[in-house]
Amino acid sequence: MAHFTLSTLARALGALAVSAAAAFAPSPAAAQDPKKADGPILIGHYGSLTGSEATFGQNTSRGIRIAVKEINDAGGIGGRKVELKEYDTQGKTQEAGSAVTRLLTSDKVSALLGEVASSLSITGGKLAQKYSVPMITPSSTNPQVTRIGNMVFRVCFLDDFQGYAMAKFAYDDLKAKKVAILFDQAQTYSKGLAEFFSKSFRELGGKISAEQAFTGGDQDFSAQLTTIRETNPDAIYVPGYYTDAGNIALQVRKLGITAPLLGGDGWDSPKLAEIGGGAIEGSFYTNHYSHQDPRGEVQEFVRKYTETYGQVPDALAALGYDSARVLFAAMKASPTLEGKDLAAAIAATKDFQGVAGTITIDKNRNARKPAVIVEMKGGVPTYRATVQPK
Ligand code: PHE
Repeated sequence: MAHFTLSTLARALGALAVSAAAAFAPSPAAAQDPKKADGPILIGHYGSLTGSEATFGQNTSRGIRIAVKEINDAGGIGGRKVELKEYDTQGKTQEAGSAVTRLLTSDKVSALLGEVASSLSITGGKLAQKYSVPMITPSSTNPQVTRIGNMVFRVCFLDDFQGYAMAKFAYDDLKAKKVAILFDQAQTYSKGLAEFFSKSFRELGGKISAEQAFTGGDQDFSAQLTTIRETNPDAIYVPGYYTDAGNIALQVRKLGITAPLLGGDGWDSPKLAEIGGGAIEGSFYTNHYSHQDPRGEVQEFVRKYTETYGQVPDALAALGYDSARVLFAAMKASPTLEGKDLAAAIAATKDFQGVAGTITIDKNRNARKPAVIVEMKGGVPTYRATVQPK
């Protein structure tokens, strides 16, 4: 019967097409195996190289570049050089999505480094997971980031701990009993940190006198700050990014509020003092490392970085460097650069001596590390205290 014959023929042709494709397409594992392939190993970085969080991406990139130069000077990985592909996210979700898609589908990188902002790492992390390519975020601290799946790692602490660290410092050291919060409702990072700080501070016996929200990029904070002023807080917690934090500090002082401002790692930028000027002096924030830490690893990195870039490295630079070095060590240890193998090698990272502390990746693909508290003094984040993980 004609119908029967045609469908049999179609099936036969289909089978032929499949086997032809299998014969001619290189297997992705072989194409990415450092021991079988030659040419450079491509790694991708996506970060905010422009926009109001520009120093995040720029300084992360600088840290990564120092690590890339070091590994290549030492002969590369399995005899292959490492080559960095990098795209700007402009600090925007949509741009982050296209940058990561491009790295995964057109550059076909073996691994991703990025982002800084948690919201953008969540966007990128979902794509990394979908394409089964490991991603290490150097500095995204919101708990949700690594919950995406087994391809997503971080080399920094998390915001439940960071919020606790500042709550404890405010309550114990600053003797603050009443704190107001002003957070960025558009950032997963900021919302999370506001919540974690509030919970820890209340558990310690403190009171949250007011909770107000803004949206990153806002220029006028007077309505929120007037409400906050009425509650006469001992301190104001502003878990936002540095451009907004600097602007908020200026308006806080203009309104005659003298209470110290408290922040999180999102404040860490050479631009904070530039924008905030005298208004940011005497404020405190939690951070991943201090360039004043006398440890050998830190001082050696500070020296190399300052020589190359003429600037003291901030936490982004240190964490960018650490994330790249953790990745390269895993690439060396992994039998292939195929996603599953490489992810397993990253997951096995133990007692890695980083600039921003010792890194052991736990079963949730996170690192557990102490936080430092710095105080803005003469425009310089100055070491004040260390808070150990709970
Ligand atoms: N932790 C911030 C976030 O998750 C990013 C950040 C890290 C900013 C370190 C500055 C320094 O969004």
